[in-house]
Amino acid sequence: MDNMAKKDIDSFQEKTLADFVIQRRTEPDIFSWVDSFSETINYLSSIGHNMYRRVMLSANSNHVLVEDPLTKKEIEMIMMGSNSYLGLNNHPRVIKAAKEAIDRYGSGAGSPPHFSGYYDIHRKLETNLAWLKGSEDAMIFASGYSTNVGILSCFLGPKDTIIIDKLAHASIIDGALLSGAKLSTFRHNDMNSLERVLSQSQKNTAGDRLVVVEGVYSMDGDIAPLQDIYNLTKKYNAKLMVDEAHATGVLGKTGKGSPNTSTLKEKLI
Ligand SMILES: Cc1ncc(COP(=O)(O)O)c(C=O)c1O
Repeated sequence: MDNMAKKDIDSFQEKTLADFVIQRRTEPDIFSWVDSFSETINYLSSIGHNMYRRVMLSANSNHVLVEDPLTKKEIEMIMMGSNSYLGLNNHPRVIKAAKEAIDRYGSGAGSPPHFSGYYDIHRKLETNLAWLKGSEDAMIFASGYSTNVGILSCFLGPKDTIIIDKLAHASIIDGALLSGAKLSTFRHNDMNSLERVLSQSQKNTAGDRLVVVEGVYSMDGDIAPLQDIYNLTKKYNAKLMVDEAHATGVLGKTGKGSPNTSTLKEKLI
């Protein structure tokens, strides 16, 4: 690292994870690809700028205790990367309920809920979530990633087309790829672009067409124009899926998230 030219240092600082993903596509040898990744991470760590896998020493809250990677000392930092917008992970009632659940059920279900690890508290949570969302029912998954991958790969197949916003989360893309459906994208929150893609896909899709957007986008925090998106999906006879990871608890008077289709329908009439 000591003899590193300034040009190399600048190029390290400008790199993002996406650069390595792209590089892998043209880099046939996994080990040399991994080496250049390690070099960058080591360099960023050596100047204290590596933001990945920082070791936290306290609950994830608006202030957190973190191990300083250079001095190994405990420092306090402001947390800007959490999705616990309401701080429920630290709420005394949630902590009490989690402790009681561990006392009663142990520390794990021993099986996925879809199989034989489905408890009364899972069902209660699903019922409450369905009530919150004003939906017929709900099904919980272990993570947002597994939700998108599970739903898309289960419901869609090679005859279908999945149309996603360009800024949609990677789990939506992975789910779409796993489904084997044709994948099309439209420009972020751009209704002209969505209409073009919907119109084209109507001609060349034998199966169903599903538009997938996010209620609130994770990176920029901007909101999807759901009423317009819903109108277009109706016009072109497509279906709509909304990832509410960052909208639930955040949008709406009571934190229900984006308006659901029944609310949108009512507004349309
Ligand atoms: C919009 C969106 N969907 C899905 C996910 C994946 O969620 P998880 O981290 O729970 O797997 C994320 C993660 O940040 C997200 O931002």
